Amino acid sequence: MFAEKNCHFFLLLLAGSTLVMANPVPGSCKLPNCRRPGTSIPGSLEASKIPQMVVLTFEDGVNSKQFKHLKEIFGETYKNPNGCPMKYTFFPTDIDNEYNVSSLLAGMGYELASHSLTHKVPPSAWSNMTADEFKQEMVGMKTKLTTHSNAKVAGARIPFLELGGDVPYQVFQENGFVWDSSMIAGSLTYQNDAPVWPFTLDEPVSKKYCAFGKCPKGSYPGLWEFPLNRLYNDKGEACSLVDRCELPDNTAGVLKFLRKNFYDQYYNKNRTPFGMYLHISWLRWSAIFDSAKAFLEEVAKLDDVYVVTVSQALDWVKNPTPLSQISTLPSWNCKQ
Ligand SMILES: *[C@@H]1O[C@H](CO)[C@@H](O)[C@H](O)[C@H]1NC(C)=O
Ligand SMILES: *[C@@H]1O[C@H](CO)[C@@H](O)[C@H](O)[C@H]1NC(C)=O
Ligand SMILES: [Zn+2]
Repeated sequence: MFAEKNCHFFLLLLAGSTLVMANPVPGSCKLPNCRRPGTSIPGSLEASKIPQMVVLTFEDGVNSKQFKHLKEIFGETYKNPNGCPMKYTFFPTDIDNEYNVSSLLAGMGYELASHSLTHKVPPSAWSNMTADEFKQEMVGMKTKLTTHSNAKVAGARIPFLELGGDVPYQVFQENGFVWDSSMIAGSLTYQNDAPVWPFTLDEPVSKKYCAFGKCPKGSYPGLWEFPLNRLYNDKGEACSLVDRCELPDNTAGVLKFLRKNFYDQYYNKNRTPFGMYLHISWLRWSAIFDSAKAFLEEVAKLDDVYVVTVSQALDWVKNPTPLSQISTLPSWNCKQ
């Protein structure tokens, strides 16, 4: 409690100095560079006319051992309806990353984003980090991925999703990050609400769309947030990362969970990108890996489902494109 109060005081001080920015003119928030948080489909398109995006992300460093498993989801089975391979986003940290492996991933068109150098514990360390330290961690990792893996790094995820108020977002904006994916959205128990589409931080974000931790109070024009919409198990309990959900320890049970969330909350609703957020170590647990593979194989058969990176998904949000014209979206075409 005390620390919370302290921090709010600190933020007020910040707000008094550097954070004050011109308020956006009402009505001026328009795509492609601004979008208010909410459940409405970008471009006011109809759900049945748009692609259902699936965004699969892996946290923590990648190495040769995991690469062997990863190759199983790079295959011919895992293709999008336009014939291009499904694409995933990786969030490596420096402690356990082999840069030759992340370099291979980048070369194949997978997205790499910063998840800090040290991923240090305790998680609370991230909630009150100084701007200098946060910058060293997040920009430091971005630089390493750029220089040692020849990757274009556009985004970041804060370790443990432990938000640190305005500090992280100031650092992201000042250091050329295009997006963050650290905010959790959705209620703690199942309420049948539609999930939230990605949005920009032009206006201070409300608790509804930043439902966990120390949210920023400032305004960061043009900085995108790719929120982690909560998923729900069969008891209606929420979780943000799939491998942190309380799930049955067998392939059929996990697959049922993925399918239920996907069809009920996304595919048959407002077609918000469906996030499957995992840790790379998850590849070793066969119940979960096998269910994810089964899920990907199933959606590969649907002609309106695309498994894309965070940046590709954001490109669609900026340029809402009906399925019938999807080949006009350059970032979704095959590069090889
Ligand atoms: C990456 O480098 C390590 C040694 O630093 C090596 O053991 C491994 O085989 C390399 N992996 C690939 C995919 O080149
Ligand atoms: C950060 O805040 C937590 C509580 O939110 C506190 O326990 C911890 O000591 C703080 N760490 C630093 C480095 O200030
Ligand atoms: Zn992590």
